[in-house]
Amino acid sequence: MEIWNNYLEENKERFLEELIELLKIPSVSADSQFSDDVFEAAQFVKARLEEAGADNVEVCSTEGYPVVYGEKIIDDSKPTVLVYGHYDVQPADPYDLWTSPPFEPVVKDEKIYARGACDDKGQAYMHIKAFEMMMKTDSLPCNVKFMIEGEEEVGSDNLEQFVIDNKEKLKADIVLISDTSMIANDVPSITTGLRGLAYLEVKVTGPNRDLHSGFYGGAVANPINVLCDMIGQLQDESGKITIPGFYDSVIEVSDAERAEMAKAPFDLDRFKSSIGIKDVKGEEGYSTNERTSIRPSLDVNGIWGGYIGEGAKTVLPSYAQAKISMRLVSGQDPEKIADLFEKHFKSLAPNSATVEINRHHGGEPAVTPIDIPAYKAASKAYETTFGKVPVPQRAGGSIPIVALFEKELGLKSILMGFGLDTDAIHSPNEHFGLFNFYKGIETIPYFFKFFAEN
Ligand code: BES
Ligand code: MN
Ligand code: MN
Repeated sequence: MEIWNNYLEENKERFLEELIELLKIPSVSADSQFSDDVFEAAQFVKARLEEAGADNVEVCSTEGYPVVYGEKIIDDSKPTVLVYGHYDVQPADPYDLWTSPPFEPVVKDEKIYARGACDDKGQAYMHIKAFEMMMKTDSLPCNVKFMIEGEEEVGSDNLEQFVIDNKEKLKADIVLISDTSMIANDVPSITTGLRGLAYLEVKVTGPNRDLHSGFYGGAVANPINVLCDMIGQLQDESGKITIPGFYDSVIEVSDAERAEMAKAPFDLDRFKSSIGIKDVKGEEGYSTNERTSIRPSLDVNGIWGGYIGEGAKTVLPSYAQAKISMRLVSGQDPEKIADLFEKHFKSLAPNSATVEINRHHGGEPAVTPIDIPAYKAASKAYETTFGKVPVPQRAGGSIPIVALFEKELGLKSILMGFGLDTDAIHSPNEHFGLFNFYKGIETIPYFFKFFAEN
């Protein structure tokens, strides 16, 4: 629509400047050193929502970081879109691998570089600006509610309670989220699935103190060797996870849907070269795309123990630790999978060592249907602004709140992500294309328009 295009053209620079201000706030939810900044980011979001024209804007306290809420109800007989996003970001470590400081945003080669540029400040901000655009041009087609939280990157632990306590306030017809990616700038896609997550921390303990590896080496089980051996047994040569019962409840994707998925363009060579690997590895019988979307996976996220300082210290360590996560697919329950893991992992321990296991936050997987009006509205929105029908595609990442919205509010979510897998989210030099930022702002109002029309 002409009025939207004009408004976007006239305000582009300001939109970007405002996003830069938000990106300067180091709202790292995982690190308490940044606690004040996380609260400051919430205030920033509140102020921008108010300026854009939202009513009843509040910073709602939780046991953890607050949820920013705002709404515009134009007509009770019209549908309501609940926009979800998060203003917290991942830690920026390791800082020395950034080419410019993570909280001093710079625009380079048509991309904005900063922690949170894509995940999710840049994408959440697109919604605030799209809303402003509809408000200031008097063209908001339906009701909208915003819920921008500050604990997504640490598992949204307090959000479940917030949702349960505010069911009336959050009443809506659909949830709209931009916190995923699309295939390429000329291959728009809509995310139709997210994996779940089970996350555990394990500790293998051997002798009651670090030992001289000459006196004891060869006669005493080394906890690091033991841990590595146990981890090695978690997957077999065909890439299957060996935990008994692990695959029992997996809902297999039909051959027809797999064939449909295989039509989405995917360049394996580009995939490999973009991350500097010579070859891929994974579960036999599945493509790379399938391995990262419709199949579960198991990864060690960190492992430590023994001496890692300079030089050689001859030591047989007392203990070894690791953080292990499993990405889950439809049918798999994070709690049950964590139970299975615990039981199996303990059974792998030799008598010479003891195992302790602690659980971190998890999340349920989610799939979103493509035959509902809201999906069709999203599809038409992309078609309007990209000139191409978007491809439905399942993602490998997790957004635990999506399953919760369904469970607690009975709401489906539409995942209109505008990032790219190459945006380095969670990594050094995270960035977000200006094309993507503006295209998101341009596309979102059409979702509102088409969704309100049916
Ligand atoms: N926005 C991501 C999830 C994502 C990104 C899904 C791209 C699909 C495509 C989200 O912020 C995230 O990082 N989630 C975490 C899980 C959370 C419990 C910490 C993840 O997937 O590791
Ligand atoms: Mn995110
Ligand atoms: Mn993230």
